[in-house]
Amino acid sequence: MSEKEPVGAVVLFKTPDDLVAGIRRAQDRGFTRLDSVSPYPIHKMDEVLGKGPSRLGYVAAIAGLAGTTLAKTAQWWVSAVDYPLNIGGNPLFSYPAFIPVTFELMVLFSSLATVIGMLVVFNRLPQYGSSLLKSKFIRDLTCDKYGLVLDAADPKFSPDTTRAIFDGLETLGFDLLYRERPSPFFSQRILSVPFLVLLAGVALLCSSATRLVFRYGGAVPPFNFMKAQEKLNPQHESNAFPDKTGMRPAVPGTVARGLLPYPYASDAEAAGRDLVNPAPVTTSSLVRGRDRYAIFCQPCHGREADARGTLTAAFPKPPTLHSSKARGWMDGRIYAVLTSGQNAMPSYASQINREDRWLIIHYLRALQRAHNAEERDLK
Ligand code: HEC
Repeated sequence: MSEKEPVGAVVLFKTPDDLVAGIRRAQDRGFTRLDSVSPYPIHKMDEVLGKGPSRLGYVAAIAGLAGTTLAKTAQWWVSAVDYPLNIGGNPLFSYPAFIPVTFELMVLFSSLATVIGMLVVFNRLPQYGSSLLKSKFIRDLTCDKYGLVLDAADPKFSPDTTRAIFDGLETLGFDLLYRERPSPFFSQRILSVPFLVLLAGVALLCSSATRLVFRYGGAVPPFNFMKAQEKLNPQHESNAFPDKTGMRPAVPGTVARGLLPYPYASDAEAAGRDLVNPAPVTTSSLVRGRDRYAIFCQPCHGREADARGTLTAAFPKPPTLHSSKARGWMDGRIYAVLTSGQNAMPSYASQINREDRWLIIHYLRALQRAHNAEERDLK
């Protein structure tokens, strides 16, 4: 296209209503390639111009999905495949633990894609050579006037007759837009040799300084105090012990604080024989037992332990605990059910501590006795 051929035209209006009238007029005459320029976003202008909903949402969704996938895959690869570390007994691919990074990457990817997509892809910024920016109206358009831009690529556009279609409307001016060469200011200053040499010099200086500080800075007292001391590094070979590992195995028979070994996991009958309920039967221990029972057992076993719990429709129906079997069991045998579970009933060891399990059993005994009262109980 030659220098003199226009790439479009801009029409200036005083109010948004005039602008809308101008747009409607152009649309009536068959123009389709229209755009508006205003000092601030005008609500629903996209609808007037016949633009559909923004496609930016898809960009954000796809980028967010990519971030999520990348985060999950990378964490899975690092934690479950490349360097499996047992952390507190959790599964190597632990979903909850991976949520924060996943969430962050999802937000990072979609926000970056949204900003870059909006500025660079959809709006094709920056436009140093924009002919609109060179228009004589541009000061008005960024201050208090409204512009309608017509694209010369529109089949209806003609430099001579287009102006006439706005006859009779409240317009403030009309200007043809010509293609501008990109501003020489930017190309000269940024791509000039002295500037590039300066840039390379700064990069070289910064990286050498960083390298020197990290290479030799740590060897200067007192910065070397941490590094130079004798210490055990669990991940490295060490000379402190004959087996050359810094990580020490537990001394045989070590018991973690607060943990009592429970050797009856596979032998409930032995628990019934050996274990004695250590909790005293007092009013407060029965009250505590009743509360724990109501929280943990009642949903399935029912208030009276007669298998009429509220959850029995959804779960396997438990047996009544007033059977001669359950009544005949020693406390230790019931303790084994609570600690290790029994068939469809799960273990409660992680939810109810040792003391509370024994108190629940005291309360269960009281329930059983209430259902099978003997004459001496009436006295
Ligand atoms: C999720 C429902 C559920 C909860 C909650 C539950 N149980 Fe059970 N319980 C069962 C089922 C089902 C069985 C039968 C298991 C089987 O098939 O051996 C059972 C069995 C038992 C037995 C053995 C009875 C027998 O005759 O074999 C005892 C004792 C028992 N539960 C006590 C308790 C206590 C005490 C609690 C509260 C800490 C409790 N249960 C919580 C469902 C539950």
